[in-house]
Amino acid sequence: MGNAFDFQPDISSAATIPSRCYTDPAFLALEEERVFCRTWQLVGRTDQVAESGQFFTAEIGDESIVVLRDGAELRGFHNICLHRAGPVAHGCGKRQTLQCRYHGWTYGLDGRLLHAPEMEESAGFRASDFRLIPVQVAAFGPLLFAMIDAGAPPLSHFLGDIPERAARFHVDELRWVMRKSWTVRCNWKVYVDNYLEGYHIPVVHPSLHKEIDYGEYRVEPHRYWSLQHAPLRPVAGAAADRKYVPAEAGDQAQYYWLFPNVMLNVYQGQMQTNVVLPRGHGECEVVFEWYSATPPADASTDAQWTKLVAFSDEIQDEDIEICEQVQKNLRSRAYDRGRYSAAREVGVHHFHSLLHEFL
Ligand code: FES
Ligand SMILES: [Fe+2]
Repeated sequence: MGNAFDFQPDISSAATIPSRCYTDPAFLALEEERVFCRTWQLVGRTDQVAESGQFFTAEIGDESIVVLRDGAELRGFHNICLHRAGPVAHGCGKRQTLQCRYHGWTYGLDGRLLHAPEMEESAGFRASDFRLIPVQVAAFGPLLFAMIDAGAPPLSHFLGDIPERAARFHVDELRWVMRKSWTVRCNWKVYVDNYLEGYHIPVVHPSLHKEIDYGEYRVEPHRYWSLQHAPLRPVAGAAADRKYVPAEAGDQAQYYWLFPNVMLNVYQGQMQTNVVLPRGHGECEVVFEWYSATPPADASTDAQWTKLVAFSDEIQDEDIEICEQVQKNLRSRAYDRGRYSAAREVGVHHFHSLLHEFL
């Protein structure tokens, strides 16, 4: 595809990216190759591999991987047997070896081939020459990330100083509470673009607009991520009609976006992760997972959690509706590119600059 699209680094004179980036299946294939296989992807949680031998499988773009714990080591491999490409793991579980579901080649948790039946007559074949192809894995708090490109820099390089900035929220101590997912009929980037600006809040989210101090809304772009600050409006008089009540002055949430498709919404004692997974060029799956320092016994019946999730659902429904309409319109012959608000769409422009860089 050559140069995927032309890009203007100065937002004040830039045009948005062409509509075909959102509607062309060939463009998604390019993104899988150059974006999803070259960035750290949120694939699971550390509690899923707490004990040696625990494993789970995950998909990154069109690649299947397996993540496991081997003693103290977290490891990741392509879920591909070196014989004739059968899968070495399914779903999740706990085992001391991985056995291919096709002809039974058996691998250790370190990826080494331990046993391959009936290979004695194959000249020069030595099991010890074979090892599952590794992928990089790394944890941040309870979150497990994986990277297909074995030569790419570590997770810490991409996270930069997020761990220090988020330190006061004690992300390490948070435990998983619940998961919810949506299938959204839009290209994954339409959803990400929408997340990265507060510009639409007054029109799309009237109830959220009442809660936040829109004038103070800020976006800080960093190398591979950005941070949005959406301070709550000061509470005047009775707080009874407010959905969020700041616990103390300066009690702010941090909204991190990690290129290309991960959002970490961090609050005091709580975190919500959003992952946007392409499902074809015109559809994506959006997965929300909630974490808490004090998980409820049952989030589905807990009054505080039911209220929290209901408000999150209201915002999500409003976002989904506008994103699906935008996707439909991006297919129109009447539209190709627009302009950015230099005041409000710094985060979207930053995302597009990274996309341009990786493609
Ligand atoms: S493909 Fe795995 S043992 Fe044959
Ligand atoms: Fe929104």
